[in-house]
Amino acid sequence: MQDIIDRLDRLRTEARLGGGQARIDAQHARGKLTARERLEALMDPGSFEEMDLFVEHNCTDFGMGESHIPGDGVVTGAGTIYGRRVFAFSQDFTVFGGSLSESNARKICKIMDMAIKVGSPIIGLNDSGGARIQEGVASLAGYAEVFQRNVLASGVVPQISAIMGPCAGGAVYSPALTDFIMMVKDTSYMFLTGPEVVKTVTHEDVSAEQLGGAITHSTRSGVADFAYDNDLVLLKQLRRLLAFLPSNNREAAPRIDSGDDAKRPIYSLDNLVPNDPQRPYDMKELVEKVVDNSDFMEIQAGYAKNIIIGLARMDGRTVGIVANQPMILAGCLDIASSIKAARFVRFCDCFNIPIVTFVDVPGFLPGLQQELGGIIKHGAKLLFAYAEATVPKVTVITRKAYGGAYDVMSSKHLRGDFNYAWPNAEIAVMGPKGASEIIFRSEIKASTNPEAKLKEVTAAYAANFANPFIAARKGFIDDVIMPHDTRWRVIRGLQTMEGKQLALPWKKHDNLPL
Ligand code: HXC
Repeated sequence: MQDIIDRLDRLRTEARLGGGQARIDAQHARGKLTARERLEALMDPGSFEEMDLFVEHNCTDFGMGESHIPGDGVVTGAGTIYGRRVFAFSQDFTVFGGSLSESNARKICKIMDMAIKVGSPIIGLNDSGGARIQEGVASLAGYAEVFQRNVLASGVVPQISAIMGPCAGGAVYSPALTDFIMMVKDTSYMFLTGPEVVKTVTHEDVSAEQLGGAITHSTRSGVADFAYDNDLVLLKQLRRLLAFLPSNNREAAPRIDSGDDAKRPIYSLDNLVPNDPQRPYDMKELVEKVVDNSDFMEIQAGYAKNIIIGLARMDGRTVGIVANQPMILAGCLDIASSIKAARFVRFCDCFNIPIVTFVDVPGFLPGLQQELGGIIKHGAKLLFAYAEATVPKVTVITRKAYGGAYDVMSSKHLRGDFNYAWPNAEIAVMGPKGASEIIFRSEIKASTNPEAKLKEVTAAYAANFANPFIAARKGFIDDVIMPHDTRWRVIRGLQTMEGKQLALPWKKHDNLPL
């Protein structure tokens, strides 16, 4: 018996070495952790149980019959994060470049199936050259099996992808189907075709960094939601992200005792908005002051910065925050910001996370580029997302809520539960000057001093209509609140709506304007 136990130990030790010490050293030399080291850093200490350690590929072409490595380039299993069960796979770049074989895909699918059955998040730590080239269509089939499960799991359990190496081809499509993508700066890349193929086909000379680095995807393409300095920082933030989320779509996110007084007044908010309506202010300051302990996990912080999205807690409960940012493009909604916010609103709605919206929006961004780019269709995504969301929705208008953007930003008419406005809010079809130019056009034209006339009618319009009381009189605004009371009023709104039930008409699924 001792012989058998020794043999098992030896086999396990060999298997855990993956592609061997030289390749592990090369991985470390690039500043990257190995697949197993990453899982250790991600999971609660000692909680990870590996599965399928001895699985090997079944390919015999291109000399692969002589080259078998137990585990076949991916480590799979289950563990816990802050005591809650998660399933994870971690691709091992030291084994055939982490490429995906038929066997390797079967391992990933096995843990995905388990996660869906028991309602636990799926985490993918990706470091892979894509389809195992030697396996041909068997590898493509493996990818499609993974993709199918990503789609089935979407909206059922949270799926989070970490990109921790050069990920090419099929290796980027599974992450694209998941809820969030985190990347490591300088060591991770995502592209369908690498720089060499690009050069051959389009004659463009680009570096891997320009084409698919963490900065590119977190600031230009919007593919990545987060970019971090190294593997360890990313894994720590992945744990933080998961702590905000429920394990599945039938549960609420865990409530924690944040120790932050729900009734805490924030007097500095009374002076946040400048007197001059054309002057910007930092909406992030408001968000950070209002949420529990200023703990705000911003998502896509470097992309479409005219809208802020992210997760936080209020009175210990997870909320999704959506807020216009007047510092960028005056807070206008454009194509990128509409898509960014729409996807986040839908994510929150999938996973029972109430949505808190802070509004300061002068409208949709005008211009040829936006119209030709399809702002009508893309702006409609955000409208659609808010309108279909059935989670509790609390909205605070801090300054401007003009035109279509007033309707879109979680208005009362889209089944908003509590809609508040600060006393200085301006709720109208458009700004006072634009409105006056249209409705007083003939008076201005007829005037001996058109400029002075415009000023006069604009001031009169602003005094009468640029305020929250007309909307409040119609019940579109539930109350005009003092800025310093914002935290408590939002929390009380959320408390009031806890347990909200709202059904949609029967449908197979909706037809979001894509
Ligand atoms: C088999 C692979 C591989 C792959 C890398 N390797 N990618 N083996 N299939 N797809 C192997 C290499 O041969 C090498 O083995 C080892 O992994 C490390 O690779 P290197 O090239 O030395 O590493 P590096 O210089 O860091 O470059 C990493 C890389 C590059 C950028 C990922 O390897 C690369 O471009 N690979 C091919 C990417 C690709 O075109 N994949 C197929 C996409 S098609 P040795 O033994 O020499 O150390 C696809 C279709 C699916 O995925 C579509 C579904 C929608």
